[in-house]
Amino acid sequence: MIFSRLSPLLKLPLLQSLTRDALLRMDPETAHGATINALRLGLSPEQDHADPPELKTNLVGLELKNPIGMAAGFDKNAEVPVPLARMGFGMVEIGTVTPRPQIGNPKPRLFRIPEAEGVINRMGFNNEGHEAVFRRLKGLHVPAVLGVNIGANKDSEDFVADYVAGVLRFAEVADYLTVNISSPNTPGLRNLQGDEALRRLLGEVLKARSKAKVRVPVLLKLAPDLDEAALDGIARVIGETDLDGLIVSNTTISRDPVLDMENATQTGGLSGKPLFSLATQKLAQVRQRVGSLPIIGVGGIHSPETAVEKFEAGANAIQLYSALVFGGLDLLERIKRGLVAAVRAQGKTNVAELVGRTTDSWARGEAK
Ligand SMILES: Cc1cc2nc3c(=O)[nH]c(=O)nc-3n(C[C@H](O)[C@H](O)[C@H](O)COP(=O)(O)O)c2cc1C
Repeated sequence: MIFSRLSPLLKLPLLQSLTRDALLRMDPETAHGATINALRLGLSPEQDHADPPELKTNLVGLELKNPIGMAAGFDKNAEVPVPLARMGFGMVEIGTVTPRPQIGNPKPRLFRIPEAEGVINRMGFNNEGHEAVFRRLKGLHVPAVLGVNIGANKDSEDFVADYVAGVLRFAEVADYLTVNISSPNTPGLRNLQGDEALRRLLGEVLKARSKAKVRVPVLLKLAPDLDEAALDGIARVIGETDLDGLIVSNTTISRDPVLDMENATQTGGLSGKPLFSLATQKLAQVRQRVGSLPIIGVGGIHSPETAVEKFEAGANAIQLYSALVFGGLDLLERIKRGLVAAVRAQGKTNVAELVGRTTDSWARGEAK
């Protein structure tokens, strides 16, 4: 491809103008497909400098060159983990992948809320299934930490068995696995967050992990719609296991910040800017309950400032997705610069030292 020979300096504005202007005028799912294709074709900008030492992070025993990841759902089928890593993400989470291929919900199923820079999706785990995704990942070298997010087929008779199959299939190719029980778009899935169901699920998943050739770290991804009593229960169950960490959070079924806006009545999970406060409060409430267990903070990060706030609320690393739809790809570099500036301004040397400074006020709902 001729584009792959262009210098990064030329590619960045090229792809950015594509994402910002043309893509925002397209139907959202078509735009997403076009972005994946552009990345596959080598149109993506590549980071041409090493990340500063302030951003080096250890997470669940893994060395990250920086603590910023592409969240699950962008690259469901592991088509572009390498271009995403080369763009500068410190981690890339592919999936959700289910055992059997699945077409997902009828289209349209992805909506923008332009006024609030929000997104609503009810994709329903459209993906090519374990075997196709495994074949793509086997032998692939991704120059970042690679997460594989596993889920259950909608028509599965045994959700737990689907997660166990995911662990056994992907343990050898993933740097970490995410057990996603928080998508609002597979009926019954979020019931796995209840105490008894979660105890059984984690018991089986972690037993499967112990049988795999390598000990792959396992994280659990939670919904932001859990109340404090539910978080108490989850923390108790997790405390009985050797789960490696949590991801807080998935999309929300609530609509409070976007009431009366275009597309707000669409069924599905809300993400992007309007999710930031809720997801960050839940992150802080979870942090208060799990001590120093690693947590990846996700939900509504849309600026360097909101990235810094996630760490201060209790995240050890962050992921984002929706803001890239509205903000363009230079957001990643801006966030990195903002994090380094915050570390230096507080007289510290590493982003890990920002973690937890405002947990209590976020948990009480006193921060933004
Ligand atoms: C279109 C779309 C599809 C998503 N698909 C998945 C998915 O398959 N698995 C998952 O765990 N999260 C999925 N998510 C949730 C994101 O990973 C993330 O948790 C959420 O969007 C909040 O982050 P954000 O506000 O930065 O987008 C999806 C989000 C969007 C917008």
